[in-house]
Amino acid sequence: MKRLILFLGKGGVGKTTLSASLANELAKKGNQVYLASLDPAHNIFDFFGLNQMSSEMAITDNLVVHEIDTTEYLKEFLKDTTESMKQSYKYLKIINLEDMFDVLKHSPGLEEYAVLRALDTIVQNWKQRVDYIVVDTPPTGLTLRIASLAPTTLRWIEKLKELRLKILKRRQEIVNIKGDEAIPQGVATEANDDPVLRELSEEELLSRRIYDLFTDREITRRVLVLNHDELSVKEGIMIITDLKALSIDIDLIVFNKTGLGGVSDELMQRLIDAAQGVKTYEVPFFEDHPTPREKTSEIASVFIESIL
Ligand SMILES: Nc1ncnc2c1ncn2[C@@H]1O[C@H](COP(=O)(O)OP(=O)(O)OP(=O)(O)O)[C@@H](O)[C@H]1O
Ligand SMILES: [Mg+2]
Repeated sequence: MKRLILFLGKGGVGKTTLSASLANELAKKGNQVYLASLDPAHNIFDFFGLNQMSSEMAITDNLVVHEIDTTEYLKEFLKDTTESMKQSYKYLKIINLEDMFDVLKHSPGLEEYAVLRALDTIVQNWKQRVDYIVVDTPPTGLTLRIASLAPTTLRWIEKLKELRLKILKRRQEIVNIKGDEAIPQGVATEANDDPVLRELSEEELLSRRIYDLFTDREITRRVLVLNHDELSVKEGIMIITDLKALSIDIDLIVFNKTGLGGVSDELMQRLIDAAQGVKTYEVPFFEDHPTPREKTSEIASVFIESIL
């Protein structure tokens, strides 16, 4: 993989149009490209004017398009978690896994976590096979929460690991004083045998991989898509600021549908101040094209150089 390109921005600004145009153009230039939509309201196949036969389709020799159903990842996660709980706590006869399942199912952050796992799977599956992975991300709020989930989880895991090591130490002390029989069979006393620590380490790796992807400067390019309207620019300022707090930088801003609308100089200045030297590009509004797919080359040509 030469590049992972993430398109971010508010609903309706043109993330799908720009990500699909870029993916199409990169493929036309002979690159192997994988275009993934993580937006729950998919319309990537519509953009290409195709009847969707399955969620993942090779639409040319070198362009694969995938509308990812994150609920599948959610189901898989719930299944995995219940299974690993059964394994980790098999000595506890009284634990009610059905109750646990219900609690998990309604936990806050699950949607974000499902997208995070989906993104990880995409990159793991495709990074050896293609030159470019292009991702059409969900609307801003969800994307921001996904981006912050990884570093937050890493901090949590650090603390949980410390706590777990303390528990194991206590168990060892009990064994030292009272002998092996004091601890039920199957209950770990050593870090190497502990399924809970193993689980935590796996989660740590996943969060680390995602955080590395979001913050990477060599491979990843983060494209913020905006329109010349007040809401979109305000949301743009928010996304730049919030991502910066997570050490994630935006690499370029593409103003889509220029010619439509306009914002005050003062608001524009606030965006420029927040963006601190990030380059901006302008894609015109194609009035006569209800779907701008005939314009993919023209659209991509505006900013493709900054991606290559
Ligand atoms: N440059 C353009 N000129 C004309 N129409 C455009 C342009 N860019 C996007 N559109 C149109 O604007 C609408 C929204 O674009 P698009 O679906 O790409 O946005 P999005 O950010 O992916 O939206 P959503 O959040 O709903 O997924 C579509 O009807 C699209 O055809
Ligand atoms: Mg879209």
